Amino acid sequence: MGKSRILIIGVTGNLGFELAKASIAASHPTFGLVRDSAFSNPDKSHKLQTLSNAGATLLKGSLQDEASLIQAIKQVDVVICAISSRQVLDQKLLIPLIKQAGCIKRFIPSEFGSDPDKTRISDLDYNFYSRKAEIRRLALRPLQGTKSQYLETGNVKGVFVKESDVAAFTINTVDDPCTLNKVLYLRPPGNVYSMNELIETWESKIKKKLEKIYVPEEELLKKIKETPYPDNMAFVFIYSAFVKGDQTYFDIKSSGGVDGSQLYPHLKYTTISKYLDTLL
Ligand SMILES: NC(=O)c1ccc[n+]([C@@H]2O[C@H](COP(=O)([O-])OP(=O)(O)OC[C@H]3O[C@@H](n4cnc5c(N)ncnc54)[C@H](OP(=O)(O)O)[C@@H]3O)[C@@H](O)[C@H]2O)c1
Repeated sequence: MGKSRILIIGVTGNLGFELAKASIAASHPTFGLVRDSAFSNPDKSHKLQTLSNAGATLLKGSLQDEASLIQAIKQVDVVICAISSRQVLDQKLLIPLIKQAGCIKRFIPSEFGSDPDKTRISDLDYNFYSRKAEIRRLALRPLQGTKSQYLETGNVKGVFVKESDVAAFTINTVDDPCTLNKVLYLRPPGNVYSMNELIETWESKIKKKLEKIYVPEEELLKKIKETPYPDNMAFVFIYSAFVKGDQTYFDIKSSGGVDGSQLYPHLKYTTISKYLDTLL
């Protein structure tokens, strides 16, 4: 069986660019759907040139342009969407077109980050996670989709993974039957840290003790409410991950998902410690 042909939507973005590079590096025929405006933006056109030189096929189009989507979908077996979190509902036109095309064996929606069905932050997130969950439901309906400062005590653990590593794990799932219709969780050893552990590691590297300010949960919630949207979203993510523990409170087996680092032990990734070394 040949390598799947992968269409990535959002190749000029942070994660999409990494996904495209990882897909090319894994010898998948790689396609990017690119909006016209990106070609006249110096940073984006530089990324596009890099991908094109590496062998990617760039197709003009957008998530709002049905004809361009149909054209792109019929050339591939797998579609990965990496549009930004604010635009996730823009995948609503793409999903039925994928289902109608009948040639797509996997669709990975732009759901990268915490599992939207596992977060427990009620209405604090301006529907950030419920929009992602809505797209998951839509994708799963007939065609099966796939899957992927200090706070309080500071001991709740969250997950830190570099974008290029998220991309490498994601591309590995594409032709792997174990991951079909599963959520891919990433909790690589050396990358699941509490705030306390993060600060301790940094202190040992810089050989200096830092002054620590503990922020009570109520204070963080107040900050979320008082800071205008979307500037408050960084606090919402911190609250979800490091106060509620939304990335680590459940065990992967019982969630019906798969653990990327157990499935792909050969994949090398950047640990938190190694990443911190680059900041010294
Ligand atoms: N958990 C985390 O810590 C974390 C952190 C960051 C991101 N993420 C997730 O990663 C995913 C990607 O986010 P990102 O920050 O990498 O996104 P990004 O850098 O904002 O890139 C968005 C991409 O989508 C493209 N795009 C937007 N609208 C489009 C449309 N209508 N048609 C076609 N292409 C369109 C953009 O193209 P143009 O060049 O034309 O604008 C760009 O290439 C999201 O799911 C996000 O939530 C998670």
